Amino acid sequence: MGDGRAEHFHVSTPLLESWALSQLLGTTVYLKCENVQPAGSFKIRGIGHYCQEVAKRGCRHLVCSSGGNAGIAAAYSARKLGLPATIVLPEGSSPQVVKRLQGEGAEVQLAGKVWDEANVRARELARQDGWVDVPPFDHPLIWEGHASLVQELKAALGSPPGALVLAVGGGGLLAGVAAGLEQVGWQDVPIVAVETRGADSFHAALRAGKLVTLPDITSVARCLGAKTVAAGALECARRVKVVSEVVADAEAVSAVQRFLDDERMLVEPACGAALAAIYSGLLGRLQAEGRLPSPLASVVVIVCGGNSIDSRELQALKTQLGQK
Ligand SMILES: Cc1ncc(COP(=O)(O)O)c(C=O)c1O
Repeated sequence: MGDGRAEHFHVSTPLLESWALSQLLGTTVYLKCENVQPAGSFKIRGIGHYCQEVAKRGCRHLVCSSGGNAGIAAAYSARKLGLPATIVLPEGSSPQVVKRLQGEGAEVQLAGKVWDEANVRARELARQDGWVDVPPFDHPLIWEGHASLVQELKAALGSPPGALVLAVGGGGLLAGVAAGLEQVGWQDVPIVAVETRGADSFHAALRAGKLVTLPDITSVARCLGAKTVAAGALECARRVKVVSEVVADAEAVSAVQRFLDDERMLVEPACGAALAAIYSGLLGRLQAEGRLPSPLASVVVIVCGGNSIDSRELQALKTQLGQK
């Protein structure tokens, strides 16, 4: 940043045509490869932007509660900014994530069983002078950062895709992509918003027409586990076309394995949820039901990535879910 120009912490990611997924769906499928971001997921777009903004306003210590990927993005941003960071994770978070955070120079604290409980602790810490809480998904600056993804799609594709598929946790990615679609005049592109059963707080909220707090998070896709989605995510479903769907953990994990074999990329079950829209035949069913246009010009899947996975973890998930 030496020349005074604002540099982003995220990179422009490749948009790759997937032969295997295109064959399966019968239409061109593009992968927006957020898994190659420096902090391992799309989160760096919004969080990098947020952290740069608060640093300009005098923040001296960043604190972030996160099931993993948002925390890694915050720790990475803090290192780039030369600021100390404290990351609060739920107990039982993956040891690789803890190691990665410490490697970024962040202090790690474990608090609570799920993200919502870790978040209470992070907010307490952020009361200290000069400390700023980095919200993992619920802030307009986060959405503004995530919207850059759609600007890149516009530059790469020129014309709008037939549909966009993404995973929903707290709804930050959804709200950012919706904002981006509006910015580029693509607000008519339907978004297929996928959650796993047991982390389906967005689906529950849409059905109820108001925010719903799930009693617990029971899905293996831990990073989709926000008990309540951001109000902004629910609100954006009124401005753009959102088709909300829920897949089983087994479908998400099977999609992770198949994607690894097809594309040689290993992603978290959170990302597997989005990929399952194609691998499990969900998009085809939505077309048959008239909930998505048929034929579709093309489909973009946001490969959101994720750090809490390696070959051993994938095997453990498959064993847990009774898959070979
Ligand atoms: C890999 C990955 N995908 C998807 C999501 C969901 O994003 P959001 O919480 O913005 O809905 C997360 C959230 O942590 C994530 O880490």
